[in-house]
Amino acid sequence: MTSDNDRRRGLLARLRERPAARSRGRRRLGAAVRLIAALMLAGGAYTVFAPGAQAQDNPQLTGAAAEGKALFDVSCVTCHGRNAQGVEGRGPSLIGVGAASVEFQVSSGRMPLARQEAQAHRKPPVFTDEQTRQLAQYIQELGGGPVVPGGDDLHEDGNVAAGGELFRINCSQCHAFGGGGGALSSGKFAPSLHPATDRQIYAAMLSGPQNMPVFGDNQLRPEQKADIIAYIQETLKHNQDQGGFNLGRYGPSTEGLAIFLIGIVALVFASLWIAGKS
Ligand code: HEC
Ligand code: HEC
Repeated sequence: MTSDNDRRRGLLARLRERPAARSRGRRRLGAAVRLIAALMLAGGAYTVFAPGAQAQDNPQLTGAAAEGKALFDVSCVTCHGRNAQGVEGRGPSLIGVGAASVEFQVSSGRMPLARQEAQAHRKPPVFTDEQTRQLAQYIQELGGGPVVPGGDDLHEDGNVAAGGELFRINCSQCHAFGGGGGALSSGKFAPSLHPATDRQIYAAMLSGPQNMPVFGDNQLRPEQKADIIAYIQETLKHNQDQGGFNLGRYGPSTEGLAIFLIGIVALVFASLWIAGKS
C-alpha cells in the first residue's frame, strides 16, 4: 500500500518537475549557442589581427622585403621559423633584431649556419650585397630594430686617437689590444677584427653577436662608433711592426714564452757544444 502511494507521489512530483527540466534544457542550449558564437567571433578576430596571419600574406611588405622573404623562406626558415619567430633548439627568434644583425650575420657568412656549433664562424658570404639588403629589409619590416646608417665609409669623420681610447676601454678585453681576437669561455672566441668592413664593425656594435655586448647609441654615440671604426681601420690594420716578429701582438705572455723557448734551446746547444769540446 505504502509503496503504491510512494510511486504515485513520485510520478506526480516528476510531472511537476518536467517544465522546469525543459526550461533548464533550453537554458543549456542557449549557453551552448552563445559559447559557439563567442568562439567563432574570437577565431575570426584572431585571423584578422594575428601577426602570423598578416605576415603570411604580407600585403604591406615593400618590394625589397618581399624579395628578402622569398630568400628567407628557402634558406633560413628551417632554423628561424616561418615568420622568423624562432625554432626551439635550432635558431633564435629574429623579431626585433633589426637589419643590423642580419647584415652582420649574412655579410660575414655566419648565416646561413651550416651546422650547429658553439659559435658561428666567419665564412665567404653565400648571398650578394643586394640579397643581404633584401633579407635585412624583410626582418626589419617584420619586427623593427637597429639599422646601420647608409654608406660604405662610416669613419670619415672619426677621430683615431679618441677611437683608440674607446677601443681600449670597450673592446680590447675580448678582441685584444691589437684587434687580433682571443679565446673566451666554453669553446667560444672573440674573432680577429682584421677582415671586418666599416659596416660590419658598426653592425656588430649595434647587434652584439653571441657573447659580445650590445653597444647601442646610448652606450656609444654614433660619433664614438665612427671614432672606434677609424681606429680599427686606420691604426690597427695598418700597424707597422717596429722590427722583428709581432708574435700575434698578444703582448708580454707570448713574448716571454718565445724568449724562454729560444733561450732554452740556445743554452742546451751551448752546453752540448762545451761538453763536446772537452
Ligand atoms: C642551421 C640552422 C640555421 C640556419 C639555416 C640559419 N640560421 Fe641564423 N642562427 C642560427 C643559430 C643557432 C643562431 C644563434 C647562434 C649564434 O648567434 O651564433 C642564429 C643567429 C642568427 C642571427 C642573430 C640573431 C640575433 O639575436 O642577433 C641572425 C640575424 C640570423 N641568424 C639570420 C639568419 C638568416 C638571415 C638566415 C638565412 C640566410 C639564417 N639565419 C639561417 C641558426 C640558423
Ligand atoms: C665580451 C667580449 C666582447 C667585447 C667586449 C666586444 N666584443 Fe666584439 N665580438 C665578440 C664575440 C664573441 C664576437 C663573435 C660573434 C660571433 O661570431 O657570432 C665578436 C665579433 C665582433 C666583430 C665581428 C668580426 C668579424 O668576424 O668580422 C666585430 C667587428 C666586433 N666584434 C667589434 C667589436 C667592437 C668594436 C667592440 C668594442 C666597442 C667589441 N667588439 C667588444 C666579443 C666581444
